[in-house]
Amino acid sequence: MDLGIAGRKAICAGASRGMGLASARALSREGVEVFISARGEERLKSAVADIAAETGGKVTAVPADHSTPEGRAALLAACPEPDILVITCSPPKTTDDFRDISVEDWQGSIATTMVAPIELMRATVDGMAARGFGRVVNIATVAAKFPSVPRLLSGPARSALVNYSVSVSKAMAKDNVIINTLLPGMFETENMTARFEADAAAKGGTVEEQRRKVVSRFGVPRGRFGNPEEFGAWCAMFCSQYAEYVVGQSLVLDGGLINGLF
Ligand SMILES: NC(=O)c1ccc[n+]([C@@H]2O[C@H](COP(=O)([O-])OP(=O)(O)OC[C@H]3O[C@@H](n4cnc5c(N)ncnc54)[C@H](OP(=O)(O)O)[C@@H]3O)[C@@H](O)[C@H]2O)c1
Repeated sequence: MDLGIAGRKAICAGASRGMGLASARALSREGVEVFISARGEERLKSAVADIAAETGGKVTAVPADHSTPEGRAALLAACPEPDILVITCSPPKTTDDFRDISVEDWQGSIATTMVAPIELMRATVDGMAARGFGRVVNIATVAAKFPSVPRLLSGPARSALVNYSVSVSKAMAKDNVIINTLLPGMFETENMTARFEADAAAKGGTVEEQRRKVVSRFGVPRGRFGNPEEFGAWCAMFCSQYAEYVVGQSLVLDGGLINGLF
């Protein structure tokens, strides 16, 4: 299926690995020119080389910390007129006890997971509107919708991000600037695989046994972790020409783990 976005330009902020990388790769496969950012330069360069080798598309690395105004400025300088904006970051640290969360923890979480995407949207949606096409996908977390203490530094700021995104999506839809949010559950990113490998080395058993233990402890109905590749395909769909009538939605991708009725 041709998603109708070949030749478009995309900023993929936070995309040297994990679901951001998989989304950038899926967009590049569609013929989109991608500008991918991360803080760590080495992994970023290798991600760019990897995508370009696979798709033959134009891929540019932008080393930048998008939780800072300077980082966001660097991204926008590299791609001043994006048609597509995909934004994420690493999972914030988990918290066992809500009492241990400091003001600095909150400030870090809010700057990275909420203010960064809001500011990147604010800087880009008017240009998208003027050019008659725009797609924004925030990659957030299922914890935005289903709260828990361990995810307090991830969920609340993302709930606020969803609130902002839905509000702005209604203001921008008439100009074909379409803003949506994806809420991932348990996906096996490189980090997660490394954790299984470390657990297998420390506790014995195989990596697959460690993986299965976690899936069964959480009771994921689909019986496995999600893989970033399938996530990237959904992200590309939300960036496609066909997303035009899907406005301000938050799609949970979690293998059926946490279901509301709608
Ligand atoms: N993996 C899961 O199972 C899972 C579950 C629920 C929710 N989520 C959510 O899904 C999102 C993506 O998770 P993931 O597992 O794919 O993350 P990941 O593998 O850690 O990848 C995050 C990417 O963002 C970059 N990044 C992080 N902070 C950044 C910053 N301030 N500025 C620029 N780039 C930054 C990282 O590179 P650098 O470190 O080099 O900057 C990396 O390329 C997160 O928001 C997470 O909360 C993930």
